[in-house]
Amino acid sequence: MLRVILLVVAAILVVGFPSDESSSTTESPEQTRLKDAKKLLNKINKESGLWNNKVTIASWNYASNLTKENLATKVNVSLQSADYVKKMWRQVAEYPWQNLSDPDLRRQFQKLSVPGLAVLPDAAYEEHQNIVSSMENTYSTAKICEYKNPNNCDLALEPEITELLANSQDPEQLKYLWVEWRKASGEKVKSLYPRYVELSNTAAQLNNLSNYAQYWLKDYEADDFPEQVDALWQQLKPLYLQLHAYVRRQLREKYGPEIVSEDGPIPAHLLGNMWAQEWGSVSKISVPFPGKQIPDVTARMVEQGYNATRIFRLAEEFFVSLNLTRMPDLFWKNSILEKPNDREIVCHASAWDFYDGKDFRIKQCTRVTMDHLLTAHHEMGHIEYYLQYKDQPIVYREGANPGFHEAIGDVMALSASTPGHFKKIGLLDDDSVDTEAIINNLYVKGLEKIAFLPFAYAMDRWRWSVFQGKIKSDEYNCRWWDIAEEYQGIEPPVDRSEEDFDPGAKYHIVADVEYIRYYVSFVIQFQFHKALCERAGQYDPQNPKLKPLHQCDIYQSKDAGALLGSMLQLGSSKPWQDAMELISGQRVMDASGLLEYFNPLIEWLTAENQKTNEYIGWKPTTKRCVKTRAELIKSNKTNSDCK
Ligand SMILES: *[C@@H]1O[C@H](CO)[C@@H](O)[C@H](O)[C@H]1NC(C)=O
Ligand SMILES: *[C@@H]1O[C@H](CO)[C@@H](O)[C@H](O)[C@H]1NC(C)=O
Ligand SMILES: *[C@@H]1O[C@H](CO)[C@@H](O)[C@H](O)[C@H]1NC(C)=O
Ligand SMILES: *[C@@H]1O[C@H](CO)[C@@H](O)[C@H](O)[C@H]1NC(C)=O
Ligand SMILES: *[C@@H]1O[C@H](CO)[C@@H](O)[C@H](O)[C@H]1NC(C)=O
Ligand SMILES: *[C@@H]1O[C@H](CO)[C@@H](O)[C@H](O)[C@H]1NC(C)=O
Ligand SMILES: *[C@@H]1O[C@H](CO)[C@@H](O)[C@H](O)[C@H]1NC(C)=O
Ligand SMILES: *[C@@H]1O[C@H](CO)[C@@H](O)[C@H](O)[C@H]1NC(C)=O
Ligand SMILES: [Zn+2]
Repeated sequence: MLRVILLVVAAILVVGFPSDESSSTTESPEQTRLKDAKKLLNKINKESGLWNNKVTIASWNYASNLTKENLATKVNVSLQSADYVKKMWRQVAEYPWQNLSDPDLRRQFQKLSVPGLAVLPDAAYEEHQNIVSSMENTYSTAKICEYKNPNNCDLALEPEITELLANSQDPEQLKYLWVEWRKASGEKVKSLYPRYVELSNTAAQLNNLSNYAQYWLKDYEADDFPEQVDALWQQLKPLYLQLHAYVRRQLREKYGPEIVSEDGPIPAHLLGNMWAQEWGSVSKISVPFPGKQIPDVTARMVEQGYNATRIFRLAEEFFVSLNLTRMPDLFWKNSILEKPNDREIVCHASAWDFYDGKDFRIKQCTRVTMDHLLTAHHEMGHIEYYLQYKDQPIVYREGANPGFHEAIGDVMALSASTPGHFKKIGLLDDDSVDTEAIINNLYVKGLEKIAFLPFAYAMDRWRWSVFQGKIKSDEYNCRWWDIAEEYQGIEPPVDRSEEDFDPGAKYHIVADVEYIRYYVSFVIQFQFHKALCERAGQYDPQNPKLKPLHQCDIYQSKDAGALLGSMLQLGSSKPWQDAMELISGQRVMDASGLLEYFNPLIEWLTAENQKTNEYIGWKPTTKRCVKTRAELIKSNKTNSDCK
């Protein structure tokens, strides 16, 4: 030690007073270490960018053309990439990065030190890939027969089944579609799911995490994140209960008390959506003021000759009006915006980053409906995020947390779907803001946004418990329904058994996509909306002359765009709490934006439910869930014997 110091002193004496140049050549050991660390990160960044690009191309080729050949290539490329990740990770594990003085470099290494599924041994990794691909393939290619017409067995989820569920008002047909879809999708992948759970947990443990749920949760950078999610739900539940009670009464009046009880869970097949996750379609039969306009612009879009491209151009124009980035030419060239009829593809809408800074794509089987218009904004929000953080290192090219990524496009849609904005672009005639119009409008929004919250929470309540081993494979389905009943207050239209696998009838379950991100998104998008509206000078809680939150439209506000852009550019380079603070001044998720947005609706629903003396909440379902179908049939016989 001493010797080294002496040598340094001697060197300075020989050179005399150091000039600026000589001080930079005699860098401190820490500077050398930082330079060295940056060099390693640069190398990893380049290599992993190339691998991510290769894997994404192969995944896209498969998802947009579901052939065995394309799957084999995808698995092959993924395996090679996993080998690279393993090698890279070992290098990182051996590198003494924990005590680097630069917190940003430590953050990059920290992220690289949790390699995910790639740590699985080759055979197990390949098996995991094949299981997920196989489940996703079953889901994406499932077909059912038309109701009462065994001659047409070519109904796909998108578009036929989805549109029938949204538009039919025949409860028998709806029940049929609900049951048949689950036979063709979930039931078929039931046998694969336990092994998927096992392999996922093995991977998590190799990452030194106790299970795969914990692996999913690490991206939220808070030990008490599940508690935060639950606290939000306690805040939001009262408003869900009011919406639930009102919708149940409307459905009872429509379908009769034999089908919809006064105080039970709502039968899941009547809510206009395969998973009862968004109830927008029931607005047609349940809108508070039927004489008033319902802000459903589907008919207008069809009338005006909208097509897929025009829908996405409209979404793009909104981003551009905020002075955010327009979609690059390659986006228009490579995206798949309509369902092709020469091959099977994964129709579930998605947005893709190819990690080369140039290639970004959306794949969506677009239909000309209001729903798809909103989805187009949603997907383009992902692309805008990709574009804004494309110059970050690869490890930071992700949302501040997964919920942020899901929220961006929805924030655009909150403005773009106000009656005022729809009128501006010729999709609505009447943008009057009398009480009845406001309630109708908020009701349609509430069916989309409030009804979704307990669904999203239930999805991962179930999966967290599955990965934690609290739900065993022989109770998957009945526990699924317990949780759906507890949070959503829904019940299946028919008795169920463990021979069914209803979770597997939902895309994100079979495609291995974590779901609490959507719950987070549906809360924080109102926080973002509020902050951007304030920045746009459209909204100020102290100034009653300005519009309320639900009428605010940030269109053309370059200030709001700049604020949003500055957050998007961060990617995941900072903890999400920092990104949240940048945009909203708060460091926590906060439901008060959502509560304020919907306040007039909640007050109206509460008064209405009191008027009709509705039961708030639900009593236990009378539908059964047992181990086997044989049991159901047997006990049915016993029942009739008693009579
Ligand atoms: C789909 O993939 C197959 C290879 O499995 C290829 O022969 C075919 O041309 C592809 N179809 C399209 C439309 O790209
Ligand atoms: C994967 O691709 C590489 C390179 O193209 C090829 O050499 C190898 O045989 C392939 N492996 C499998 C299992 O297909
Ligand atoms: C950092 O930690 C490594 C081993 O983990 C050690 O060898 C090295 O001396 C430490 N460096 C500093 C600057 O503390
Ligand atoms: C189905 O096709 C058969 C034979 O062509 C025909 O007899 C029957 O009426 C058809 N059923 C329906 C519901 O169209
Ligand atoms: C997990 O912990 C073990 C023992 O401390 C260590 O050898 C291994 O590198 C760790 N794995 C990861 C992915 O951090
Ligand atoms: C879609 O609509 C746009 C504008 O209305 C039009 O220019 C374009 O040709 C249409 N595309 C298709 C495939 O019909
Ligand atoms: C629009 O964005 C560009 C690039 O981010 C910026 O330089 C410019 O100042 C912005 N324009 C306005 C009017 O804010
Ligand atoms: C049992 O009876 C109930 C009520 O009649 C009926 O809804 C259900 O479909 C029957 N289940 C089976 C498996 O037959
Ligand atoms: Zn999304």
